Amino acid sequence: MNFPLRRMRRLKKSRSLRELVAETRLHPSDFIYPIFVSELNKQPESIASMPGIYRYPPKDAAREAYRVFKLGIPAVLLFGTPRKKDPTGSEALRSDGIIQSAIKETKSLNPEIVVVTDVCLCEYTDHGHCGLLKEDLSVDNDATLEVLAGQAVSHAEAGADIVAPSSMMDGQVGAIRHALDDNGYQDIAIMSYSAKYCSAFYGPFRDAVDSAPKFGDRKSYQMDPPNAAEALEEIRLDVEEGVDIVMVKPALAYLDIIRRAKDTFHVPLAAYNVSGEYAMVKLAASAKIADEKQLTLEILTAIKRAGADIIISYHAAQVAEWLRR
Ligand code: PBG
Repeated sequence: MNFPLRRMRRLKKSRSLRELVAETRLHPSDFIYPIFVSELNKQPESIASMPGIYRYPPKDAAREAYRVFKLGIPAVLLFGTPRKKDPTGSEALRSDGIIQSAIKETKSLNPEIVVVTDVCLCEYTDHGHCGLLKEDLSVDNDATLEVLAGQAVSHAEAGADIVAPSSMMDGQVGAIRHALDDNGYQDIAIMSYSAKYCSAFYGPFRDAVDSAPKFGDRKSYQMDPPNAAEALEEIRLDVEEGVDIVMVKPALAYLDIIRRAKDTFHVPLAAYNVSGEYAMVKLAASAKIADEKQLTLEILTAIKRAGADIIISYHAAQVAEWLRR
């Protein structure tokens, strides 16, 4: 009896065999590591909802960027908390603002570190919305575009390599592309949060940068979780507006969107393994419900298998260390 002819177990026999036939492999260069920079901090301060993640003053943020760069992670994504917030998020435009300083400090440690910056107003506005408000307290799309464009140009001036608009304003990529080009920054790339869902997975992040909206929610600009075709339309518009890298966010609950985006478009695709995904793993590990390393690598491998070329993850530094051994 020679049934079954094909035995799938043959290639599962040893670790080396399994490695040989692995279809997806994580590598430190797949990752972008997010770093929080704060003007309110003189020292690194741990973030309660995100064990292992800190808010840094600019100099320490740069050191952290260099540390992870030496682990093989090519890029960092900077998020800033300004000294003071106001209705228009004016601190976002200061040439010596928190992000602008962090970019300069990082580039002075090593110009090879790819510096990506978040372009959005929610960290800078006192009301916590991602744009300027109209009198009726709705978010003013077109007026916001001008501020986002100014913020992007000021990040480029400070030395950023890639700007990452995350406000989900319509036309943000086009507005930023034109402003960058008009100011001589035609070589600065745009990574857009193209399909960014209105998600409960952002909770710990909002705690980290104190950016939760003071009233209402982000449903009038971020995407509704039931929608998939709409995500492809959001991405298509960004591609038309000249985007360089597109993103799906969050990652774990949106693997279908990542796969469809990968199959439909041919620009590099990033996926954001967001703060809530990170916090859930940390909590499960601390409650001894799962092994942190195994759980993390399984999740990140799934995100890459779904089609992500780039993964933005708070676990990136830890993963780079695990992959070394
Ligand atoms: C908005 C922004 C958010 C995140 C990145 N950029 C939060 C939001 O839309 O409320 C979330 C990232 C995360 O949860 O890790 N500037």
